Amino acid sequence: MLWGRLEHLLQPSRTVGAGAPIYPMLLWKARMAHLNQTYAIETRNLTKKFGAFTALSELNLKIENSAILGLLGPNGAGKTTAIKILCGLLKPSGGEAYIFGKKLPDRSILPSIGYMPQETALYLELSVHHNLAHYGEIYGMSRGRIAEREMELLQFIALEKWRNEPVSNLSGGMKHRVSLACSMIHEPKLLFLDEPTVGVDPELRASFWEYFNELKRKGITIVLTTHYMDEAQHCDRIGLLRLGKLIAEGAPGEITRRTNTASLEEAFLALSRQEVEA
Ligand SMILES: Nc1ncnc2c1ncn2[C@@H]1O[C@H](COP(=O)(O)OP(=O)(O)OP(=O)(O)O)[C@@H](O)[C@H]1O
Ligand SMILES: [Mg+2]
Repeated sequence: MLWGRLEHLLQPSRTVGAGAPIYPMLLWKARMAHLNQTYAIETRNLTKKFGAFTALSELNLKIENSAILGLLGPNGAGKTTAIKILCGLLKPSGGEAYIFGKKLPDRSILPSIGYMPQETALYLELSVHHNLAHYGEIYGMSRGRIAEREMELLQFIALEKWRNEPVSNLSGGMKHRVSLACSMIHEPKLLFLDEPTVGVDPELRASFWEYFNELKRKGITIVLTTHYMDEAQHCDRIGLLRLGKLIAEGAPGEITRRTNTASLEEAFLALSRQEVEA
């Protein structure tokens, strides 16, 4: 009986024109592969309400592994809210979120996640070194590994000379760079970066993007928010949020093509107008 079914699946069932036969087994396998595909992030109707106010409304997103997703949108659009839910810091009011196929909340995924908050969460009286070491210890890293990572990250944020300075002595942009390094100390597979390049000078911003692409090549998935449209062009996909709703999602080129616009800025304005008129 079972073999009969298997045999049926392996038989060519029909042909399409003069082309190759379509094997039911292959179709079935393709369908199963699609159903089983594990995304780095998947959200289904993810919603967050603060009292009667809806900050995030039925967000549906699928982010493949090793992709860079940029979340864009005006102040108050819901970008930080979405990120906080995905990091497990905020409880959604509705819908579901999956990280690497695991439904949130799930503590086992926390070591795989790195989070750089919009407001830097550093110990100002501690040195750059002690801040990095503190975050490494939270993740149970050995002293040796923390030291290695510290060297790499200080070089990346170009603050080697500031290693022993209290963070309070650093400029705003420098603090931001330390915060970025702290979020990556434990080599997470998924990075949430809330405005990682705000206040960072143009030269360093360019080097950050080189580094993000290097991380991507190593298989790391990055979700970041930005208000810089030129940066959004570097993302594999972007999600445009407005008033808590995802009004467009896709590769930057796809979005400008779909809206028949010359830039993402224009695309965003056109999509916002459509929303208002609808
Ligand atoms: N704890 C909270 N209680 C009440 N309202 C909140 C809370 N957190 C966020 N909000 C509201 O939710 C909305 C979305 O905020 P969010 O911080 O997600 O926006 P954002 O897109 O990150 O904006 P920005 O670009 O300014 O960082 C805003 O209107 C904000 O006032
Ligand atoms: Mg924000």
